[in-house]
Amino acid sequence: MGEANQLKQRGVKGLDAKSSKSHPDVVSTPDNDKASKTKPTRFLSFVSTPKIAILIFGVFFGHMILPIIVVETSNFMSNSDMSSAKQPSESSTKRSLRILAEEESINVNNRMKHLIEDKMLLSTQSLPTDRAPLVMETPRLSDHRRKKILVTGGAGFVGSHLVDKLMMEGHEVTVVDNLFTGQKKNVAHWFHHPNFNLVVHDVTEPIHLEVDEIYHLACPASPPHYQFNPVKTIKTSTMGTLNMLGLAKRVKAKILLTSTSEIYGDPQVHPQSEDYWGNVNPIGPRSCYDEGKRVAETMMYSYKNQNNVPIRIARIFNTFGPRMHPNDGRVVSNFIIQALQGKPLTVYGEGEQTRSFQYVSDLVDGLHALMNHDYDGPVNLGNPDEFTMKEFAEYIKKLTKSDSVIQFLDKTQDDPSKRRPDISLAKRVLGWSPKVPVEEGLTKTIEYFQSVLDEAGEIIPTGPGASKPQN
Ligand SMILES: NC(=O)c1ccc[n+]([C@@H]2O[C@H](COP(=O)([O-])OP(=O)(O)OC[C@H]3O[C@@H](n4cnc5c(N)ncnc54)[C@H](O)[C@@H]3O)[C@@H](O)[C@H]2O)c1
Repeated sequence: MGEANQLKQRGVKGLDAKSSKSHPDVVSTPDNDKASKTKPTRFLSFVSTPKIAILIFGVFFGHMILPIIVVETSNFMSNSDMSSAKQPSESSTKRSLRILAEEESINVNNRMKHLIEDKMLLSTQSLPTDRAPLVMETPRLSDHRRKKILVTGGAGFVGSHLVDKLMMEGHEVTVVDNLFTGQKKNVAHWFHHPNFNLVVHDVTEPIHLEVDEIYHLACPASPPHYQFNPVKTIKTSTMGTLNMLGLAKRVKAKILLTSTSEIYGDPQVHPQSEDYWGNVNPIGPRSCYDEGKRVAETMMYSYKNQNNVPIRIARIFNTFGPRMHPNDGRVVSNFIIQALQGKPLTVYGEGEQTRSFQYVSDLVDGLHALMNHDYDGPVNLGNPDEFTMKEFAEYIKKLTKSDSVIQFLDKTQDDPSKRRPDISLAKRVLGWSPKVPVEEGLTKTIEYFQSVLDEAGEIIPTGPGASKPQN
């Protein structure tokens, strides 16, 4: 019996004798073309089989139903067990935190690195401030070359410029100042620097420090301010100088006193040289200052002669420049402030009295040269360019392009009629002479006072009477 007939007998539907040729078990014959024509019929019969239906259901179940069941089951699990639900999100939070912490630690390290670099940079320069806008470099000196230097009155006008010079040489500088006429902002650009210290202290009280050199400047220098408390002024020059000499003696330091052209009083010789003994009223309104400085010079020589203290004495003539106190009542600051505000320039007397003016950087160079020289007699430091006060008022008007009028007030008591230094000794011994022309120095000072006025608004200059310094 043929195979087709056998299949037929076994009850396999849809197979007749011809179709038996397309059955896998059926060997293919050249009649395949006929067989292909029968395919639709055979496919339909194949779909209708229960196996295929099960297969389709399986595929449908696997692709559509099973994923839904898995998702729903996992939702159910996550809802039913909160602790196991937190686990995956907590670990991702931990990972995020760990990454953040790593990043933060890198940032902190970088910041520390920058801080250290900044700190090293800061330790070699000043910070720019209104009073000292230019950044000043300080070298690193080896220990044996770096000196410990005390500057009394270092927060004042001259002192703060001297501090700049010493810091820029790489020394360790300690300022002792009671801030009577000085201002912290004059030295604020050094506050961060490891070589700088400010001690707010009155020199009329003893102080114990270890220093190699002392520049002793502490003393108010403008007539209205030193006349405000004359007893204190004489104490500052006498007790203050004694205290500094005692310190110099104890620690074997060199000490320089900033004396003044005022020790010549109303001079009878002109110009004034160091061998002139002066013409000073011992009981007038200026004597607390003039006689105070004279006795301070005497003390310096007594300590030198009796105790071998190395001393230097600078007799300073009128000095001007940035950081002068705007209310100190001295002629340069008063004229400039009056001219810049269009106020009358006030001249005391007929304006025929003469003064000569040096720029502050020249004075600082002179003080430094004197300290570092072994000459221990008094030395004049000033600029011999001489002006009558009337000429000087006109000069300031011209430089400030001001329309101010010149107003003549009563002459003040004991106002010297002439003042001009003979600086031949400083030239010969120290090789020092002023370098900055008066006009150049005045231009810088005018710029400075303009900035002070921009900040302060109106300034009413201090008149001739005694007055307390204003901030
Ligand atoms: N600038 C000048 O034209 C001139 C002329 C001659 C002499 N000098 C002398 O130069 C020095 C500095 O003068 P300046 O123009 O810078 O004056 P300044 O008033 O600006 O400075 C004097 C400094 O000494 C401080 N001081 C005053 N009394 C003190 C005390 N008892 N204890 C501690 N500190 C005290 C002040 O607070 C201030 O910082 C002074 O000794 C002055 O006599 C200056």
